[in-house]
Amino acid sequence: MSTLLLKVDGLRKAYSGARATVAIEDVSLTLAAGETLGLVGPSGSGKSTLARVLLRLIEPDGGRVEFAGVDLLALRGAPLRRMRKRIQMVFQDPLAAFNPRATVFDALADPLRIHGIGDRPGRPAAIMGLLERVGLPAELMHRSINAISGGQRQRVAIARAIATRPDMIVLDEAVSALDVTVRGQILDLLVELQRAEGLSYLFISHDLAVIRAVSHRIAIMDHGRIVEEGPASAVTARPRSETGRELVAAVPRFNPQGKAND
Ligand SMILES: Nc1ncnc2c1ncn2[C@@H]1O[C@H](COP(=O)(O)OP(=O)(O)O)[C@@H](O)[C@H]1O
Ligand SMILES: [Mg+2]
Repeated sequence: MSTLLLKVDGLRKAYSGARATVAIEDVSLTLAAGETLGLVGPSGSGKSTLARVLLRLIEPDGGRVEFAGVDLLALRGAPLRRMRKRIQMVFQDPLAAFNPRATVFDALADPLRIHGIGDRPGRPAAIMGLLERVGLPAELMHRSINAISGGQRQRVAIARAIATRPDMIVLDEAVSALDVTVRGQILDLLVELQRAEGLSYLFISHDLAVIRAVSHRIAIMDHGRIVEEGPASAVTARPRSETGRELVAAVPRFNPQGKAND
């Protein structure tokens, strides 16, 4: 777990408009190959802004992002399109991420076609393989996206993310809309896929219990800044920042004085 994949340095983004907001300020972090960095913080702390910058969905105002030794923010045109294969995403609301009238087949064929992976006659077999890797039955490919359950839809979103064989997946509140049982199953699937494929995850959530379950390291964000960073066990056992202490106190089973009722 020591090959550096992602290196973020001094990243800054302010939104302009009626109420100008500095969303992220001097954000620096690293992510190794095969590693999960959990990014946790209260709502509005800048987590999604950081995710959008890394996915090149918005431009930052300053700072540097190195991905696999490449200056990510300098990429344009074809090199950027090729890079998009290597950095995928899973968001909270899979319905918003898909055309709801599309079938599961369409949703998974898109990334293969867009990135020129395989050929048309091979698509059904490729899609069957993807469904199998995320624990879904092959028959599901004929169903429409809005006719399957939320948990199944999030599995399809994960299948779509791994379709391009990425190095890294940015997961932004990916399990936050799921009920507790399905959430656990999706987290298990993510851990299993990481083990099988050597994926790196930037796993974003406002929920420290979820972050703790999957992360090797944890970074805590508040008001646009990383206020604490360290091994997952150390951050949850002995948080050094005020924000960290508040997040830990909110999870009863991380709190030795609290009741183990979670
Ligand atoms: N498109 C936008 N325009 C203006 N302000 C925004 C926009 N998106 C987010 N913000 C503001 O930036 C800050 C960080 O938001 P966000 O990155 O969404 O935080 P988080 O994901 O941690 O909840 C918040 O104050 C939010 O209101
Ligand atoms: Mg967010």
